[in-house]
Amino acid sequence: MICIRTVLALTACCIGLGACATAPEKISLEEKHRRMRENWTPGGTDFVRAESLTMFPCHDESLPCGSLPPPPIEKVSFTGPLNGDAKKGEAIAINIRYGNCIACHALPNGHQGGTIGPSLADYGKRNMPLEYTYQRIWDNRVFNPDAFMPLYGPGAVLTESEIKDVIAFLQTGK
Ligand code: HEC
Repeated sequence: MICIRTVLALTACCIGLGACATAPEKISLEEKHRRMRENWTPGGTDFVRAESLTMFPCHDESLPCGSLPPPPIEKVSFTGPLNGDAKKGEAIAINIRYGNCIACHALPNGHQGGTIGPSLADYGKRNMPLEYTYQRIWDNRVFNPDAFMPLYGPGAVLTESEIKDVIAFLQTGK
């Protein structure tokens, strides 16, 4: 029996007499992040309206959006220290092929953005607890199960340290 495993799909297809077995492909978290980013937004570097992004909200990097059930809600607890790099966070947040917060939010430092989410331009003024902000970005469903915001943590869009950088950037918005 010959087994062919497709590059991205979760299924291993068996040609021959045997039944088709499924075996999830084992990939590192780093590889998961890399693939997620590669597929994050279609096309070039131009601003894309969030409504037309096929990966929003998307729960897996290996299959088209909507083909998998959403992952379980992840409650996380992060209370600091932040140690984030605001400059890096800004670059992540405004890059449509990276964090792409700008697709839905106005951001600090004069970045006009989409209006699907509330403006975060002066988010720093509100002095929200780190735990709140981190959870919002990691998995927004804890606050609003229907929120149209990507699952940055469970979806492996951003790493923990990238989320910290983005928070440091949001804090500059006064
Ligand atoms: C596809 C749209 C979308 C994208 C992309 C998005 N968000 Fe959101 N965001 C929302 C929506 C919608 C809400 C409001 C959710 C609700 O009603 O609870 C929200 C809420 C938030 C909040 C809570 C705001 C408050 O007033 O307390 C924070 C913080 C936030 N987003 C940060 C981010 C960051 C940082 C990024 C990028 C890493 C990001 N968002 C990307 C749609 C988005």
